[in-house]
Amino acid sequence: MAQTYDGAVNKGLEGVIACTTEISYIIDANLTYRGYTIEDLAENSSFEEVLYLLWNNKLPNESELNELKKDIADNIGFTDDQLKNLKALPNKNVHPMAWLRTAVSMLALWDDESQDDSPEAINRVSLRLVAKMGGLVAYLERLRQGKEYVAPKPGQSVAWNFLYMLNGGEPDADMVKVMDTCLILHADHELNCSAFASRVTASSLSDVYSAVVSAISALKGPLHGGANEQVMRTLKKIGNVDNAKTWIENALANKEKIMGIGHRVYKNGDPRAKILRGMSELLTKKSGEPQWYEMSRVIEDTVKDAKGLLPNVDFYSATVYYSMGIPLDLYTPIFATSRVAGWLAHIREQYSKNRIYRPRGEWTGKSGLKWSPMTNR
Ligand code: COA
Repeated sequence: MAQTYDGAVNKGLEGVIACTTEISYIIDANLTYRGYTIEDLAENSSFEEVLYLLWNNKLPNESELNELKKDIADNIGFTDDQLKNLKALPNKNVHPMAWLRTAVSMLALWDDESQDDSPEAINRVSLRLVAKMGGLVAYLERLRQGKEYVAPKPGQSVAWNFLYMLNGGEPDADMVKVMDTCLILHADHELNCSAFASRVTASSLSDVYSAVVSAISALKGPLHGGANEQVMRTLKKIGNVDNAKTWIENALANKEKIMGIGHRVYKNGDPRAKILRGMSELLTKKSGEPQWYEMSRVIEDTVKDAKGLLPNVDFYSATVYYSMGIPLDLYTPIFATSRVAGWLAHIREQYSKNRIYRPRGEWTGKSGLKWSPMTNR
């Protein structure tokens, strides 16, 4: 039952059905993309297959998958002009999500199909965006470190190229698999805040880039995609396993929110968190820092006992990325690298059966006031 506010408004639109959708679905503790469970896809597919599935409502056959991979390879790199202008953006002391939001907005200015609303142009624009997002994140990190751009290698996956363009060396096969699984797990999630933001912008029949920039802006916040970075910051503040229980109990007593915990829809656990928990256990051991996983387990149990709340996708992805040596403030941009697949599916679904979003607000302000001259105020 939806929570009500002032008897009329579902605050945060809790429980409100805002549209029909065929992209992904949450029921109880299960998540499906186009009817396939997230466990099945994480175990057996690749990010490219999931991308095809989200956009085309079916798994690709071999030639369809190869064509998609070729399309991505054709679009993944940047022109010299793009690199020069991206390099000119401030990158010190700026939030990477603010940089990414700006960079994606800039890409629209080089794209002469950005204002073309034909389905064919929208498909090509979507391919460019999904192909380039990881490269943007990687290039930002290279710039911050004063390093050169690393051009992608054709024939490699989105996950492989992201790690390659980030670190400049051929990535380890196990790390590519981990990254690919993370991309699958984050690719879509029904009407979450950023997907909804993208649909609201698309519903005015604004262009795809504008809708994706809206989504990036929504994902940035700590109550949504920004939580993964905050999880690692919390673990660092806690410092060691022995401190974890008391630290969390004190935070809860002070009415603080524990990042990476709780969810609007899942009340019996987030299936993505369960998969990531296993990955976190393995990777923290492999990196020689199992304490991050052990602390996470104590936090999970403490919040569950105190409030009945469970980890969401951001909780264990933090220690997964940390074990891979990825800088903390890139966790949310990596989320965007994957979720752009889902946003683009939502934007296109919105265009296909559009009605502009235009809800009402319940008036709680003053009424009947009369303007008075400046000297009387
Ligand atoms: N830590 C501590 N308490 C939490 C909590 C958390 N992470 N998440 C929810 N709660 C508590 C609230 O304080 C509230 O308690 P109260 O009824 O005693 O006041 C209750 O649970 C309901 O929380 P509410 O914020 O209304 O839930 P929501 O559905 O509006 O928000 C989230 C859902 C995800 C935004 C929320 O759980 C949250 O802020 N989590 C942390 C941020 C995060 O991980 N975001 C990523 C989401 S994938």
